[in-house]
Amino acid sequence: MKIYSKCDLNLYNLALTYDDISLVPTEISLVKSRTQANTQTNFLNLDLGLPVISSPMDTVTGIEMANALSELGCLGIVNRFDSSLDELFTNDTAGNIKAVSISLNDNEEQIEKFVGKGYAICIDTANAANVTVIKKTEEIKKKFDVKIIVGNIAHGGMLKQLVDAGADAVRVGIGGGSVCTTSVQTGIGIGQVSSLLDVYFARGKGNLNIEIIADGGIKNPGDVAKAIALGADTVMLGRLLAGTREAPGEVIKYNDQLWKKYRGSASFGVKMKNEFIEGEETMIPYKGSVRNVINAISDGLRSAMSYMNKITINELKKADTFAVLSNSSYLERLPKK
Ligand code: IMP
Repeated sequence: MKIYSKCDLNLYNLALTYDDISLVPTEISLVKSRTQANTQTNFLNLDLGLPVISSPMDTVTGIEMANALSELGCLGIVNRFDSSLDELFTNDTAGNIKAVSISLNDNEEQIEKFVGKGYAICIDTANAANVTVIKKTEEIKKKFDVKIIVGNIAHGGMLKQLVDAGADAVRVGIGGGSVCTTSVQTGIGIGQVSSLLDVYFARGKGNLNIEIIADGGIKNPGDVAKAIALGADTVMLGRLLAGTREAPGEVIKYNDQLWKKYRGSASFGVKMKNEFIEGEETMIPYKGSVRNVINAISDGLRSAMSYMNKITINELKKADTFAVLSNSSYLERLPKK
C-alpha cells in the first residue's frame, strides 16, 4: 500500500473526502497515554483548549451555546438570524462570547457595537470568493481593529485576494455541510479533504497569513482528527453540536423519542420566502449537554494524537502519512450490528 503525504494527496487524481482517507501511524509512539496529548491551540489570538468552533447557524449557536463552548475551551460564533445578537447588548450573561456573525447588509453602526465589545467578526456568506465580500472585509478592516473570519471557499485560487483584503481566517468547504444542497442545486463543490489541502498548499506557497477552518461534513471525532492532520487550524461544526441542550430551539417529543431541529442557513425555514433554497431542514435526536459531545471529540482527538505520536496540535497538523481507502476498506472500518 502506498503511504500518501499531504502533497501526494493534493495531487491525487480524484477529489477526496474524509471517508476516503485514514491516518496511518508509522512510528513507535512516545505518547504514553492519551491524557498526555495536548489539544490546546491558539486561534485568532484566543487560547482554546480544543480546536473546535461552532457554526453560526440559527439551530446551532445562540448565546447559551457560545457561553457553554467558551467554558469548555472552544469557540462559538453567534448566529445572525434571530434576536440573539441584540441580547448581547442588553444581557450580562453575554460576557464570554468571543465571536459574532454578520451579513453583508449589516451597517457600520452595528459592526462598531460588536467591535466595541471586543468580538471577532464572521462575515457569514455562502461564497467568500465574491467582490462584495472582499469589499466588505476591506471596509471593516480600514475602520476597525478587529479579527475577521470569511467564508466559504472550496479551493485556494482566491486565497491571496482574501488575505490582501484583510481576512484573518477562512472557512473552507462548499457543498460538504450535512444539510447543504449547494452541490445538488449548482454543481459546485469538491470533497473536503481536497478542498482543505488545496487551500493549505496555496497558503504555504504564497506565504500567506490566514487561519484555515475545516467547515462542513464532519460527522465524528475521527473526522476532526483527520481535518487537523490535513493542516486545518480548527474545525467548524454544525450537526455534531445541533440537538444538544445548549443549541437554540425546543425539544420535541415524537414517536417516543426526543428531537431538536437542525436546518441550513439557506433553508426555507430560515429565509421564509420563496427565494433560492440551498439548505435542508431536519430533526436530530436530542443529545443532552454539549459537554458530552465536546468530551467525545477531545477523547477521540487525543487518542488519534497518541496513535500518531503527536503530542501537540501543531505536531498533528504536520502529519504526513495517510492511506487512501478502497470502498471495501472503508466499509470494513465501520462497526457491524
Ligand atoms: P455540518 O457540520 O456538516 O452540518 O455542516 C455545517 C456547515 O454547513 C456550516 O458551517 C456551513 O458552512 C454549511 N451550511 C450551513 N447552512 C447551509 C445551507 O443552507 N446551505 C449550504 N451550506 C450550509
